[in-house]
Amino acid sequence: EVWNPNGKYRVVSTKSMPGTRWINLLIQQDCRLEICTEKKTILSVEDIIALIGDKCDGVIGQLTEDWGEELFSALSKAGGKAFSNMAVGYNNVDVNAANKYGVAVGNTPGVLTETTAELAASLTLAAARRIVEADEFMRAGLYDGWLPHLFVGNLLKGQTVGVIGAGRIGSAYARMMVEGFKMNLIYFDLYQATRLEKFVTAYGAFLKSNGETPVTWKRAASMDEVLQEADIISLHPILDKTTYHLVNKERLAKMKKEAILINCSRGPVIDEVALVDHLRENPMFRVGLDVFEDEPYMKPGLAELKNAIVVPHIASASKWTREGMATLAALNVLGKIKGYPVWFDANR
Ligand code: DGY
Repeated sequence: EVWNPNGKYRVVSTKSMPGTRWINLLIQQDCRLEICTEKKTILSVEDIIALIGDKCDGVIGQLTEDWGEELFSALSKAGGKAFSNMAVGYNNVDVNAANKYGVAVGNTPGVLTETTAELAASLTLAAARRIVEADEFMRAGLYDGWLPHLFVGNLLKGQTVGVIGAGRIGSAYARMMVEGFKMNLIYFDLYQATRLEKFVTAYGAFLKSNGETPVTWKRAASMDEVLQEADIISLHPILDKTTYHLVNKERLAKMKKEAILINCSRGPVIDEVALVDHLRENPMFRVGLDVFEDEPYMKPGLAELKNAIVVPHIASASKWTREGMATLAALNVLGKIKGYPVWFDANR
């Protein structure tokens, strides 16, 4: 699909994206925009090299693509100066390779913070109150009357929520769970926790001044402290070498037997094979997953487990957010082409 065929700058988007604002932005600024209409979901490096062609000023790409040495070299040969992931996460992008070939890299932080945190909160509630199991039960025609034991789950109020990775999204999730459900909080982050600290201090004081039971909060000294103390644990770190398999067999064993684990970050943060074993051995342990180690696949056995809720990487999938992500990605590429700052930000 080609927009503004006579535009001076050739910009390629490897996928169609929601909304029209991003398209208008580019074509109003003298770009010829080419949107790939290939039907297959995941494009290979060869597919993208073909899209880049001989002349390309910038590319908007997706988290399913492998943006490494080969692609940045091809983009640079085609005269390209800019690449933006339509995602805040950029573990699919080799930033060093981009630097080597003089290509600026952008991502799309901010616009997906609340939407992603809302999905983490939805998975938490769905797991705590066994909503998916209960829905399946109804549809199977198994409901024959109210029973005291039917789908008994957990009350969140007064329980402890553990947040690992207190950046933008982790902090927004913590705020939702503390403010919305009056949960106590324990969190761990090596670097970024200031915004979360400010919120809990102010919120605790607010509850106290109103004569309500204040929530408690604590910055943990180690990740294991969170795993041991929390009833609900939500993972929000970036994926890099240090967070690969952050949750492994040993760490799963440290969690409470009836804990709930949520992951809306990246699949490889959890050792999924170890998780399947743990879920099998601990039927009261529950998990809500938006991301998977070998996306789009799930490790064998996961799909059959009743104590797992699985959704297809939809944490940022609200209309407003997806349109915002598309717009930011277009601005990133346009910004570099036109000489404005590119929005690259590792501070998730
Ligand atoms: C991201 O932006 O990194 C999410 O995984 C997709 O929105």
